[in-house]
Amino acid sequence: MSDRKRYAVVGLGSRSAMFTKALLGDYAEKNELVAFCDVNQTRMDYYNNKYSQEVEGYKPVATYKPDQFEKMIAEMKVDTVIVTSKDCTHHEYICRAMEAGCDAISEKPMTTDAQKCQQILDTQVKTGKHLTVTFNYRYAPRNSKVRELIQAGEIGDVVSVHFEWLLNTKHGADYFRRWHRDKANSGGLMVHKATHHFDLVNWWIGSQPAKVFALGGLKFYGQENAKARGVTEFYERCHGSEVGLKDPFGLNMENNKELKGLYLDAEHEDGYIRDQSVFGKGINIEDDMAVMVGYQSGATMSYHLTAYSPWEGYRVAFNGTKGRLELFCQESAYVSGSDDDHNFARNVSGGSPYEVKEPTQLVLQHHWQKPILIDIPQSNAGGHGGGDAKLLRDVFEPGTPDPLKHAASHVDGAMSILTGIAANICFQTGQPVDIPSLVKFPEPEAACV
Ligand SMILES: NC(=O)c1ccc[n+]([C@@H]2O[C@H](COP(=O)([O-])OP(=O)(O)OC[C@H]3O[C@@H](n4cnc5c(N)ncnc54)[C@H](O)[C@@H]3O)[C@@H](O)[C@H]2O)c1
Repeated sequence: MSDRKRYAVVGLGSRSAMFTKALLGDYAEKNELVAFCDVNQTRMDYYNNKYSQEVEGYKPVATYKPDQFEKMIAEMKVDTVIVTSKDCTHHEYICRAMEAGCDAISEKPMTTDAQKCQQILDTQVKTGKHLTVTFNYRYAPRNSKVRELIQAGEIGDVVSVHFEWLLNTKHGADYFRRWHRDKANSGGLMVHKATHHFDLVNWWIGSQPAKVFALGGLKFYGQENAKARGVTEFYERCHGSEVGLKDPFGLNMENNKELKGLYLDAEHEDGYIRDQSVFGKGINIEDDMAVMVGYQSGATMSYHLTAYSPWEGYRVAFNGTKGRLELFCQESAYVSGSDDDHNFARNVSGGSPYEVKEPTQLVLQHHWQKPILIDIPQSNAGGHGGGDAKLLRDVFEPGTPDPLKHAASHVDGAMSILTGIAANICFQTGQPVDIPSLVKFPEPEAACV
């Protein structure tokens, strides 16, 4: 057996490909992909067939069902498990991997509720194994620059943060087509999506959340909202529906090889329907959310997430004791598994708020000084503003210098979801939540950022 590090991947949906392609390509010299695990055999076979055709010398890897997970680790001598399954199952595989002697790498969110989070924290301390949570957004050059400037003290102590994130009617809608629409699966967008944003703030300002208050609801998607706006024609899923095929929100899986192979052709096994109507019944997550956060440092944040915007991107501003930093960023909306707009029933290209020369703008202003437009290194290779490619280097080539502390641990993973978990509690109770009441960090003490 070679001395390459051996990886198994759990959850063979579209996101898994970022990791498997890296293991079979740029990072193959020191790393090896050895096994797949999923509830769905068709999806595991899809990737084995795809890579057999596309990657020279590829031999299909062994495939296992969830009840064979420990067998897989033993038989395939797995060193590290990469978890890219449905969010609410992450804790199970992270803990089983660590209990079986492996390190784990988990996609965000680390998990979906406080109880599962506690299980991960306890298991990590008990086993001493390493858990990495892959926060790709930290690595996007614009976001790294913000961290660099704040860390260098350019605006002094951060006193307050204003943060608005917009998901457009193409990308934002995708969370209402499939499993994410049920909070039990995803923790809702406060956990599934905002984990990225809350992690960025924790990392940018070098602090942890202490208190949260939030209001939110389903205001645009869902059948009741559509009816109230006068919509009269409904459908359950796009596939095979005349109404669905006319709906700009409808996803047409038939004409895309990946969507068809991974989802449409696989649904007979587990009933996973990828193209449900966003105006159907049974959605119990929010699409519009307002959150206030108090941090341990004394800073405060007002945050808003909207999932039905005409354009996609974010604005964030930091008020500090020496000045202010403002980032504006338009993003291109991407729907997992699709290739471009023709996968939608009608052309639904994402719009922009207005024509701008630079889709990203970072402005620093010291008190009494003129604003300075900050140069941002351009790197659009790979997804998430160039973040995915840089993240993969950190994950598969550990030891790379990391002065801005991009690499995120289980503590960062926990801190990033606790704000969203607290917000979910606020939606129910209307009361603020103290973050320390949610989980107990076992010894050794939490030492984030
Ligand atoms: N960092 C990012 O920017 C980013 C982007 C996309 C997705 N993600 C994350 O990646 C993960 C996967 O997302 P996706 O879009 O590929 O979803 P997906 O639905 O396409 O894939 C999920 C896979 O998990 C499998 N699965 C479900 N239940 C399982 C179980 N009990 N045991 C084993 N496998 C199970 C499904 O069969 C499916 O193959 C999610 O956690 C998501 O949050 C992160």
